[in-house]
Amino acid sequence: MSVIDSAEILLGRSLTDAEYGKAAVLGWCIELFQAFCLVSDDVMDKCLVRRTQPCWYRLPHVRLIAINDACMLRSAIFHLLKKHFRQETYYVDVLELFHDVSFNTDTGQLVDLITASEDTVDLSKTAYYSFYLPVALAMRLTGILDSDPATAIRPYQIALSILIPLGEYFQVQDDWLDYAGTVEQIGKVGTDIIDNKCSWCINTALALANPEQRAILDANYGGKGRGQECKVKKVFEEVGIAEEYAKYEDDAFAESLG
Ligand code: IPE
Ligand code: MN
Ligand code: MN
Repeated sequence: MSVIDSAEILLGRSLTDAEYGKAAVLGWCIELFQAFCLVSDDVMDKCLVRRTQPCWYRLPHVRLIAINDACMLRSAIFHLLKKHFRQETYYVDVLELFHDVSFNTDTGQLVDLITASEDTVDLSKTAYYSFYLPVALAMRLTGILDSDPATAIRPYQIALSILIPLGEYFQVQDDWLDYAGTVEQIGKVGTDIIDNKCSWCINTALALANPEQRAILDANYGGKGRGQECKVKKVFEEVGIAEEYAKYEDDAFAESLG
């Protein structure tokens, strides 16, 4: 829907049937990309639930075939793009967008999985495909070029400068809800603490912890033993992470208005 809305805003009118069809295909390609990301992410994160149902890889007839299923979801993107956009002058630009966004997502996933040091948090992995990608695709669809020769304005750079901060805000919220959200609220069960994830919560807690709290975090974060997750959660509470998150939200909101 974001591709369609963006294209309508850019053109200042509703789309013709043909334009709508093209925008919708691009939107579905993003959904396929998202499906590819989540099916493989749940294997890597050993998650149990996604959108209130068991994760795909957990079904008895699926298991590690989920890895190939993820690859097939990804391949479907390029099948659709070839079928519907092969003749367009911007075909290569659209292909390149999917490849670049893929690379950024892979890099973000790697940082998340190997848990980087405290000062290299990557909060933007979902920003590229969930926020920048739909708008950039709509911009390609409506004929916007990389730079306007008359004004030297670079529209895709401007879009990035707005949408990556928005996407970071989303990822911080996702990290927060992994710790604080209920299954009813988020349709999944948080695993970031057990999985040793480089999330906003642990980075914030590390910055606020006193030496004893720091020792508890060091000894239990990422631990699979009984009660270890609870000990981490207790430190999160002690350092006032809920207030910290409220502050982050307020600041992010104020910044977006400024
Ligand atoms: C998943 O990231 C999104 C991707 C970039 C693949 P997370 O692991 O942080 O998201 P959830 O919490 O499982 O949805
Ligand atoms: Mn995950
Ligand atoms: Mn993950």
